[in-house]
Amino acid sequence: MASDLLQRIRISGDVPRHVAIIMDGNGRWARERSRPREFGHRAGMRAVRATVEAAQEAGVEFLTLFAFSQENWHRPQGEVTALMGLLELYVRREQRELKEKGVEVRVIGDLSRLGPRTRGALEGIVEHTRGGPKMRLTLAISYGSRTEMVHAARALAERVQNGTLVPAEIDEALFAASLYTGDMPDPDLLIRTSGELRISNFMLWQLAYTELHITPVLWPDFGPDHLYGAILDYQRRERRFGRVLAS
Ligand code: FPP
Repeated sequence: MASDLLQRIRISGDVPRHVAIIMDGNGRWARERSRPREFGHRAGMRAVRATVEAAQEAGVEFLTLFAFSQENWHRPQGEVTALMGLLELYVRREQRELKEKGVEVRVIGDLSRLGPRTRGALEGIVEHTRGGPKMRLTLAISYGSRTEMVHAARALAERVQNGTLVPAEIDEALFAASLYTGDMPDPDLLIRTSGELRISNFMLWQLAYTELHITPVLWPDFGPDHLYGAILDYQRRERRFGRVLAS
């Protein structure tokens, strides 16, 4: 099935360069099985592995996953600890293979709030995979888009204050370059699992013209077929960026 879909994607041609995913539904998946939420997150980690591999197969150049939001810090301490543990486990298990496959890992978000072990693991995988030429996997961790924009505004204000920038030089390109995602193209396709119709403070600036694909599938059940289905859906759309296309 996955290989048929991949074939169709290749025939259609235009593969989204950048796919971003809001991974949602781990808790509901666990509840359906009468298991603790951590059980859902662990299954979610397996879905991450499969999705990273599938995205690479399809020729996606940038894959960005919303793994932990700023708001997630307000979850019960036990769940936060479990999620941090899973991130560390993911790094330990996948680092070598990601490097071999040419995947460069980046992390965006407010990492100052992470414990030293989680932060060390993430910095380690970023260092180890630096320069991977095939695909960039960006993990959004302790991430909030409004905070990201505030940081960008502050950095630009500081440059104005120290005399290296004048306000009239601040334009969309410079602002975009000041975000955590400064050296990446905007997402072409955003996928959100578990059917919620929200952006949840994720890449608000970068998603301005992104195609949205909302699926009812809960994240732990998400796999290559769903990713390829979303890409095929994207390929059927007409992207106009607010313009009228010539007929
Ligand atoms: C949303 O489900 C998911 C998260 C808050 C965490 C995502 C984490 C993983 C997929 C595992 C580890 C990640 C990596 C990158 C290895 P939810 O708990 O909000 O589900 P619910 O809405 O059904 O309660």
